[in-house]
Amino acid sequence: MRLLEERIKKDGQVLGQDVLKVDNFLNHQVDPDLMAAMGEEFQRLFKDKKITKILTVESSGIAPAVFAGLAFHVPVVFARKHKSLTLQDNMYSATVYSYTKKVNNHISISKKFLNADDRVLVIDDFLANGQAVEGLLSIIEEAGAQLEGVGIVIEKTFQKGRALLDQRGIQVESLARIAAFEDGQVVFLDDNQ
Ligand code: G4P
Repeated sequence: MRLLEERIKKDGQVLGQDVLKVDNFLNHQVDPDLMAAMGEEFQRLFKDKKITKILTVESSGIAPAVFAGLAFHVPVVFARKHKSLTLQDNMYSATVYSYTKKVNNHISISKKFLNADDRVLVIDDFLANGQAVEGLLSIIEEAGAQLEGVGIVIEKTFQKGRALLDQRGIQVESLARIAAFEDGQVVFLDDNQ
């Protein structure tokens, strides 16, 4: 998505070898006009699917997920992260390891908000190692719901998340695909096409 790539080039900051800071428009300060355009783009990419629900994980997935929900006119549910591992009967849950932050997050979704009739589109801000999406997929499976696809704002193609999801035959659509960081600059997969 050209608009997003231009924004990443303008406002994204490369930190170290493999982290892109996007707190100017995506995960701290949020640009609602850009989010609205991204929501429309997700709707276009998955328009052939009969989506009944959007699923994401707090916190940075919420903004793009809500705008996707607005474009599809379906509810948006975000998995909550809990510090406690106490079992709760009325929740679906999964444990997600964050490679970037080196912590285990316990994520959960109330059984009230996901059921076997749902056809789910997962939305997240980053696809890196794919652990957050894997956690949501296990919750969708536990609920007996149907996964229709995964929509990602920024994919880092050089990390293992995409391969994990491709192996499972899942439709994954990313609005910006980063091939590499070179000398502090972002190189997109389509830069050379
Ligand atoms: P995953 O997102 O594919 O599961 O991979 P990973 O385990 O590496 O990511 C863990 C956390 O780090 C996720 O946030 C993810 O969004 C974030 N992340 C991964 N790569 C980048 C990056 O290049 N830039 C930024 N800004 N974040 C990145 P989280 O733990 O779910 O927390 P939250 O930020 O959504 O609250």
